[in-house]
Amino acid sequence: MSVWVVTIDGPAGVGKSTVARRLADDLGWSYLDTGAAYRLVTLAALDAGVSIEDEAALMETIRDLEARFETDGRVFLGAENVTSRIRSPEVTAAVPRVAARPGVRRLVVQNQRRFAARAGRVVAEGRDTGTVVFPDAAVKVYLDGDPEVRARRRQAQDGGLAALGTVLGDLQERDRLDSTRAVSPLACAEDAWRLDTTDLTLDEVTQAVRSHVRSRIPITLPGGS
Ligand code: DC
Repeated sequence: MSVWVVTIDGPAGVGKSTVARRLADDLGWSYLDTGAAYRLVTLAALDAGVSIEDEAALMETIRDLEARFETDGRVFLGAENVTSRIRSPEVTAAVPRVAARPGVRRLVVQNQRRFAARAGRVVAEGRDTGTVVFPDAAVKVYLDGDPEVRARRRQAQDGGLAALGTVLGDLQERDRLDSTRAVSPLACAEDAWRLDTTDLTLDEVTQAVRSHVRSRIPITLPGGS
């Protein structure tokens, strides 16, 4: 069976996860949250007291990981469901430094390609899915948006507990780290369809992406819907 992948990349708070999840549901395809893998490695390293600056130890941690990524987005470490724990503030603060390590990325990307080969039909979202992980993807989408609007969405998603200025500052720092790192920085693939989400609701973004993807994927695709 040939592998079909749709990639959705973009910065934090742009709506990638929601849009990718809805699109995967709509198509009946698997959903791959590539950021979850970097979060999982970070969580495992913090739990084990491994320094996130020690690349060799991080790679060892990955090799020993008993990780399971369910196609519905749930993540397990051994028997433990860590879907919420990988989103803790400690993990969120540390993950850009882990994701910047070339050795870590090499191992994680290998696993992501294996996941796609097994699943066959995948909607993948992240920072480098269209540029590095799946350069031959059938459809590539890049979502962008004004940082302040993204910060407002993030703030609302998190229950509005943190001050907007703090959320915006954190988000801009993550944007900076993700887009200036030496390996696989956040970037729009040359052949990606770019959508500015600043003035759109999440429903409008979903609708626009869905129409774009639907127009490029054969309706009769075996295994699709
Ligand atoms: O999308 P997210 O917030 O769950 O991503 C977590 C971190 O992982 C963030 O710092 C960006 C990084 N990441 C990455 O480097 N490459 C990806 N394909 C996905 C996420």
